[in-house]
Amino acid sequence: MNSVIYPGSFDPITNGHLDLIERASKIFDKVYVATAMNDEKKPLFSTNERVELLKEVCAHLDNIEVINFDGLLVDIVSRLDVSAVLRGLRAVTDFEFELQMALMNRQLNKKCETIFMAPSPQYSFVSSTIIKEIARHDGDISKYAPAKVLSALNDKKKEGRL
Ligand code: PNS
Repeated sequence: MNSVIYPGSFDPITNGHLDLIERASKIFDKVYVATAMNDEKKPLFSTNERVELLKEVCAHLDNIEVINFDGLLVDIVSRLDVSAVLRGLRAVTDFEFELQMALMNRQLNKKCETIFMAPSPQYSFVSSTIIKEIARHDGDISKYAPAKVLSALNDKKKEGRL
């Protein structure tokens, strides 16, 4: 089986992430969407909340499995025995960091290959960070995040946590 792991913080998932997941689901037999716990990044959404949002937003795709992981990505890559790591490249500015990660991951595990896919250009400027900032100031992000995410961000705002 040709499987791939798409790791990320997904704090929260955006339409750009979803675009990449949908493209990957057409190419691979199985796509693991893996949320890194990343507590040091102080995420807005807890790991459980991020996993739940991912599950709800990806519910229409039957070859997606949402998981979370702590520790090194290469360890989960070995454990799941996936063919590759998938990462999105939105623009050249992503390239330097992504190349560094891909090469370091292959140093740590020589079988760990990374493949890159480009999202639809309409999402090339979308990031979780920007989505949160616009939502904080009551801007319209409805084109850039799934409806479930919009309501989860509204809830955070009401709680005074955004
Ligand atoms: O969505 P992000 O924040 O760009 O995702 C980054 C992520 C989670 C893929 C990266 O930080 C990661 O792989 N973290 C797990 C720890 C690890 O293996 N770090 C070494 C990477 S070379």
